[in-house]
Amino acid sequence: MIGKARFFEVSGLSVFVSERQVLANVSFFLKRGEVVGLMGPNGGGKSSLAMTIIGNPGYRVLDGDNPSIILDGKELIDKRIDERVRAGIFLGWQSPVAIPGVSVFAMAKAAYRANHGEVETTILEFKRKLEKLLERVGLESAVLGKDLNDSFSGGEKKRLELFMMLLLRPKLVILDEIDSGLDVDGMRLVGDIVGEMRAEGSSFILITHYRRLLKYIVPDRVIVLKQGRVVESGGVEIIEKIEENGYKDIN
Ligand SMILES: Nc1ncnc2c1ncn2[C@@H]1O[C@H](COP(=O)(O)OP(=O)(O)O)[C@@H](O)[C@H]1O
Ligand SMILES: [Mg+2]
Repeated sequence: MIGKARFFEVSGLSVFVSERQVLANVSFFLKRGEVVGLMGPNGGGKSSLAMTIIGNPGYRVLDGDNPSIILDGKELIDKRIDERVRAGIFLGWQSPVAIPGVSVFAMAKAAYRANHGEVETTILEFKRKLEKLLERVGLESAVLGKDLNDSFSGGEKKRLELFMMLLLRPKLVILDEIDSGLDVDGMRLVGDIVGEMRAEGSSFILITHYRRLLKYIVPDRVIVLKQGRVVESGGVEIIEKIEENGYKDIN
């Protein structure tokens, strides 16, 4: 279901964290159902771009370059993080944080309500829906009663991100190093789920260092961020080049 040019578009993103510039005039776009691989060396600005798109207030966007973040025709640059989430942006965190005292069930219910209004069915049916999704991502239903990301393994945290993504069915998904901590079966699972969701019209920004994840999901395009700038943008041949030579030759 790829179509509708520029379903998601960012332009002119120059971003500071405290006094430090982390992005310089970043622009790119995604069609509906497209997958972009976002690569680049450590510290290149990939997570900063994710934080900027989701609207983390610590990432200050400069006005000078006419910054814009448009999803499905809606300008989000002045919107708060919760408004962007409701508009259909989802970020799977590189390092999901533990929230003691908040169960997975409570979090899922709150997130679902915020996005879809009331839980449409009975709580029991909603719980069954969650259990099915947990099974899909390879987690036991007992995790519903556990505190969010508390005493979860690295791979379990990433699977929980996939669970939330399946529950919310966002328009734009950013997965920040979803492959770190995931085993081979986990990566294949990500491939299956991304394939299913892109066919339904979700677009993806996949942040990764490695070709191994991109074996399971072939991106439509690859963008390379280095020192906060887009230094390369093109087809999957870029992945081979990076695998062979690293990032040193890309400027
Ligand atoms: N919250 C922050 N506080 C201080 N520096 C930050 C913060 N976020 C990012 N940076 C800096 O911005 C640069 C880009 O980091 P990051 O976006 O995490 O890179 P990547 O995800 O590509 O490895 C790094 O130099 C990093 O130290
Ligand atoms: Mg990062």
